[in-house]
Amino acid sequence: MKQKIFFYISLAPVLVMSACSDDSPDKNKTMVAQGPVSAIHKSMQPVAPVKRWYSEEQVVQGNQLFQQNCAQCHKPDASGDPNWKQVNAEGKLPPPPLNGTAHAWHHPLPLLQQVVRRGGIPMGGSMPAFADKLTTEQINDILAWVQSHWPDAIYAKWAQMNAQAARRKQG
Ligand code: HEC
Repeated sequence: MKQKIFFYISLAPVLVMSACSDDSPDKNKTMVAQGPVSAIHKSMQPVAPVKRWYSEEQVVQGNQLFQQNCAQCHKPDASGDPNWKQVNAEGKLPPPPLNGTAHAWHHPLPLLQQVVRRGGIPMGGSMPAFADKLTTEQINDILAWVQSHWPDAIYAKWAQMNAQAARRKQG
């Protein structure tokens, strides 16, 4: 169990933000209208679409690869297991949604690529590694398809965090 918690924490440094991740734009409006909370939720107001890093062609390729390699666990529409937060009878976490409603969008691109390459087993999880099955290009196509499910507001926040992570890495 401890290991499992470590897995998520190590993957999701901004885990705390997840509480906000399923807020719809409509909900935000109500929150903004409530006054004092508006300062906290300012960052959640609808934003102009940010240009995506991937092409439409990658999304099409990625769909096929996702259905072949990932859909049996993460569901064909990437909605994952509804009980993804609760460990199952084997003490493992079920496959989480990848569609922008759970934690996946808190990870910069290199970390998402790494999760797919290495899987979760080394961290005490149960996702298999794909380093020997998929090329870097195929993994990127799959992530493109996954990210195509993320609403603009979520993608914009992810893009900002991803750019910050890249800058930190450059030092
Ligand atoms: C056998 C089931 C299974 C398959 C197949 C599988 N996953 Fe997973 N995936 C999981 C589980 C379970 C987790 C949670 C961590 C763990 O237990 O390893 C997870 C976690 C993830 C995460 C981290 C999500 C987060 O919120 O931190 C990503 C990203 C991911 N999977 C992508 C993929 C992709 C892409 C594929 C296909 C190439 C894939 N998975 C195939 C079961 C699976």
